[in-house]
Amino acid sequence: MVVRQRATTGYSRSVSRRFRALIAHPDSDALGELAGMLSGLGLTVETATTEAQAMQLLRSHGANVVVAGHALPLFDAVRFLEASIASAPEALRIALVSDPADAVELDYRPVQAGTIMRLVAQASERSRLLALVGEGLKLLALVEQQRDLVRKITAEHQKLQRRETLLDVVVRERTKELEESYLQLKAANRQALFGLAEAIEAKDPYTKGHCGRVAGYSLVLAQAAGYPEAGLEALEFGAFLHDIGKIGIRDAVLLKPAALDDTEWSHMREHPVKGYEIASKIEMLRPIISAVRNHHERWDGGGYPDRLAGTQIPVAARIVAIADAYDAMATDRPYKAALPADECEAVLRRQAGKMFDPDLVEVFITHDIGSLYRDEYDGYDAPEDTDVNGKPVD
Ligand SMILES: [Fe+2]
Repeated sequence: MVVRQRATTGYSRSVSRRFRALIAHPDSDALGELAGMLSGLGLTVETATTEAQAMQLLRSHGANVVVAGHALPLFDAVRFLEASIASAPEALRIALVSDPADAVELDYRPVQAGTIMRLVAQASERSRLLALVGEGLKLLALVEQQRDLVRKITAEHQKLQRRETLLDVVVRERTKELEESYLQLKAANRQALFGLAEAIEAKDPYTKGHCGRVAGYSLVLAQAAGYPEAGLEALEFGAFLHDIGKIGIRDAVLLKPAALDDTEWSHMREHPVKGYEIASKIEMLRPIISAVRNHHERWDGGGYPDRLAGTQIPVAARIVAIADAYDAMATDRPYKAALPADECEAVLRRQAGKMFDPDLVEVFITHDIGSLYRDEYDGYDAPEDTDVNGKPVD
């Protein structure tokens, strides 16, 4: 039997309209009376006169309030209420007893997961039943509100997380695009600068491939000498472009197929400073300025343009100086023939501590770095001690 009756007070209706009560009592008169009371609170009420019927209703619809009349041997309210936990775990459970002695006994029964409340259902105590159910309903409403709140907070949190994830994805994509653009720009700039260096090289067939080989020797020598890993790329780049200042050297001097006179040498020796002036105006070339400006300094201080000596000379420039000299010696030039490898190394050794950093010369020779491009060099037939510029070496 289902009784639907709305409460007469706003409070009851607002608190309880969502809740359902099940009343189980073997006495149909008492059942009707109780149903009337609880439906007066705005509850949707179902009633049952047997345990089996009550359990069936609970399984079908559940309940927020379960009231059971204790009337042994017909109806064991406590057993029923304990059994109701499985179908309505969070319900408010109330056992009605007519004998005060039973009430005392019920108080001592172990309480399982749900709360069993005692009530002596005499006329004087009906108001207590109403009060208990009323308070219980308030509690149920509060629990429900709390759950709603947790659900809303969780949903908002998930929404925020989704937004954050979305933002992360957008930021990552933009960063990737920017990085790609930067790399493309960097590659284009490098390409332009390499093109420039190659253009200078291309003017003079005798120096073809020289810049690339100087870069290769320099990189391997730097690695073997323990040059900082992070600086290797700039060093290789600097070695490739070390003679970029030759852009400013007159063709008549740059391409002269014979040894230069003093005036011509003087002009040729301007190329490190001309290179420095170019490099200092191009942001990308800043890290390689020292290799450009100081690759003709000598360990003994007799080089140019700054007459630096020993460790005053930036290490990148000391490395490039050895690589540059070795390649110049090992290839044919208009004013001299290539030297054999052992002769090139002998010159390096003789010039260690004079022209070159002796420690770096040692590393160059012990690591056989001169063999790097040996297959590319043409033959040699006129061994002669010359320095990087083709002048006789002491
Ligand atoms: Fe040079």
